[in-house]
Amino acid sequence: MSTPTFKPPNRPLTWLITGSSSGLGLAITRQIQADGHKVIATSRQPSRTPELVREIEEHGGEWHALDVDNTTSGPALIHKLEAAGENIDVLVNNAGAILFGAMEQFTDEELRAPMETMYFGPSRLIRAVLPAMRERRFGLVVNISSGAALDGKESMGAYAGAKAALDGSSRVLAKEVAPFNIRVLTVWLGTFNTNIGNASALARNPLPDVYQGSMAARMMDAISSGNFPANGDRLKAAKAIYEVAVGEGGGAGRETELFLPMGGDMISRVEVVRDQCVRALEVFGDVAASVGIDAKA
Ligand SMILES: NC(=O)c1ccc[n+]([C@@H]2O[C@H](COP(=O)([O-])OP(=O)(O)OC[C@H]3O[C@@H](n4cnc5c(N)ncnc54)[C@H](OP(=O)(O)O)[C@@H]3O)[C@@H](O)[C@H]2O)c1
Repeated sequence: MSTPTFKPPNRPLTWLITGSSSGLGLAITRQIQADGHKVIATSRQPSRTPELVREIEEHGGEWHALDVDNTTSGPALIHKLEAAGENIDVLVNNAGAILFGAMEQFTDEELRAPMETMYFGPSRLIRAVLPAMRERRFGLVVNISSGAALDGKESMGAYAGAKAALDGSSRVLAKEVAPFNIRVLTVWLGTFNTNIGNASALARNPLPDVYQGSMAARMMDAISSGNFPANGDRLKAAKAIYEVAVGEGGGAGRETELFLPMGGDMISRVEVVRDQCVRALEVFGDVAASVGIDAKA
């Protein structure tokens, strides 16, 4: 296979977005449509946002029901759209929510739920869009990940695990599909002014008393009182993500890049992980290199 490059075609693209009903997903949906692309917006219950559905449809888009937790309906929708001649060029895996709690509080069921929404669900959709993208030799998968996948704050372990799972598999996927002119862009989102604080939930088991006063307890108190700490503007983020995806503005000439930190707060969080990796090698590089199989005498 030839050396991977990535060339978006010079035409309006067809985008399928999950979680279009709110926050960043809605902002991305509107941004894409304003820039002249075909939008296939999706949400769990379109009947809950009739004015948004009308807005998108009046401008030439479509809006479909898609609960990413459902094991069959997402892939079925994609196959139906493709069979009807709708070529999905871009998949934006945006849907998500946070379940806050200290790691020892979570039940198995609570740890599995975020994995369904933010790992298995997006993975299903990716597997459904890939064959046609591969055949057409073009595709873009945009995963809206989180700083939590890199450097999660206390109380965000369940969420961090699900986001990191998709990041990890997407790193591999990106290598596998690059030869087919398919790009997998992971967006590490900092904190943004969306509805995520209100839409988030707390672990059901009580937080053990010894955690009182800890960062985990303070984070959970802030969420309970409706104080999700946001730094970034979701409309600016939607525009920046769009431009990086299509290679315009801040994305011009950077079309093969696979990771996009988004938000001022992400800079120090990326640096933390970079420094942890560098330190691990400095401290343990000799240990790592010392365990090879000895050459036969
Ligand atoms: N805002 C932040 O600070 C921040 C930081 C890092 C990462 N993120 C990520 O950014 C993405 C967008 O979140 P947001 O901040 O815009 O929050 P939001 O305003 O709460 O929007 C979340 C969207 O996800 C949808 N959703 C949740 N579960 C779903 C499911 N099972 N199937 C389909 N749709 C589902 C919601 O739809 P319903 O209307 O059906 O509930 C809603 O449209 C998420 O992946 C989130 O993890 C956000």
